[in-house]
Amino acid sequence: MSQSDIEKFIAGIPKAELHLHIEGTFEPELMFEIAARNSIKLKYNSVDELRAAYNFNNLQEFLDIYYSGANVLIKEKDFYDLTWAYLQKIHAQHVLHTEIFFDPQTHTSRGISFDTVITGIRRALEDGREKLGISYRLILSFLRHLSEADAFKTLEEALPYQSWITAIGLDSSEKGHPPTKFERVFTKARELGFLTVAHAGEEGPPEYVWEALNLLNVSRIDHGNRSLEDQNLVEELAKRQMPLTVCPLSNLKLKVVKDIRQHPLAEMLRKNLMVTVNSDDPAYFGGYINENYLAVAKALNLTAEQILLLAKNSFKASFLSEADKIDLIEKTDNYYRKYLENNSLN
Ligand code: HPA
Ligand code: ZN
Repeated sequence: MSQSDIEKFIAGIPKAELHLHIEGTFEPELMFEIAARNSIKLKYNSVDELRAAYNFNNLQEFLDIYYSGANVLIKEKDFYDLTWAYLQKIHAQHVLHTEIFFDPQTHTSRGISFDTVITGIRRALEDGREKLGISYRLILSFLRHLSEADAFKTLEEALPYQSWITAIGLDSSEKGHPPTKFERVFTKARELGFLTVAHAGEEGPPEYVWEALNLLNVSRIDHGNRSLEDQNLVEELAKRQMPLTVCPLSNLKLKVVKDIRQHPLAEMLRKNLMVTVNSDDPAYFGGYINENYLAVAKALNLTAEQILLLAKNSFKASFLSEADKIDLIEKTDNYYRKYLENNSLN
């Protein structure tokens, strides 16, 4: 395929996004707008100055800026506007289903109520479903640099909204905060009926991925890059067809990989792992989902069949019903069939 053919193929293929932090979609323009209406002064004087600060050497340097950006979100409408802006972006990128993380502790620790946060996000997601045809699931993520007690408190706060929340996740600073720290609160969450996922093996060692599997009983591993360092783990992940939500541009920006041409996605595909491509924090990492697909497609010379597989995996690994999965996978197959027909005519 030529470069422009790959770009078109990726742009149009139906896909799901499974690893996306809503606070990470906060574009500088909207941040300045919301800061102004809430009478908050940002540390930066302009959109360009803020964007210029988006140079990170590791996860923690990013997290410091990401949490400070989220500080301007105060009102229900702020959370609505943030989420609505993201939905419009992905609508243009042929995302038909999205499963988004939100970090309630980032907001409740500043005195913003859990209700304000979740109501604003959910209202936009409902509008997205009705007006844009994008289905969704919501994942509440605990900040792992905070205590187990704080996670338990957050789980408690979530209970009145349980029917709105499909799964519990684990994000923020990975090193030094292993999944074991949250074993008891994840057990409680599963007893209550939540599914679980966890960031593991982004900067942390393969042991953290084992712990996420065996102690947190996760349905997906977020990132999982460092799993490749442990052959037994790779075999286990392949055997279980455990989904990995891989985020190529995030890995590049946070220096999890040195060069996109060395991204482990190709090796993961070769090893028969159930991989998906996602954007993580697109406002900070220079691309939404299509830019992530395109970056790896170009750098790793992916074939149309491999791109199709990644798109189909995104539905398979989702928390949609089996009937919806079948329906969306069929849409993706039909898209590919049409692409082949058009190409054989040329
Ligand atoms: N890793 C951990 N925590 C995060 C990330 C990430 O990539 N993005 C937002 N919070
Ligand atoms: Zn993430």
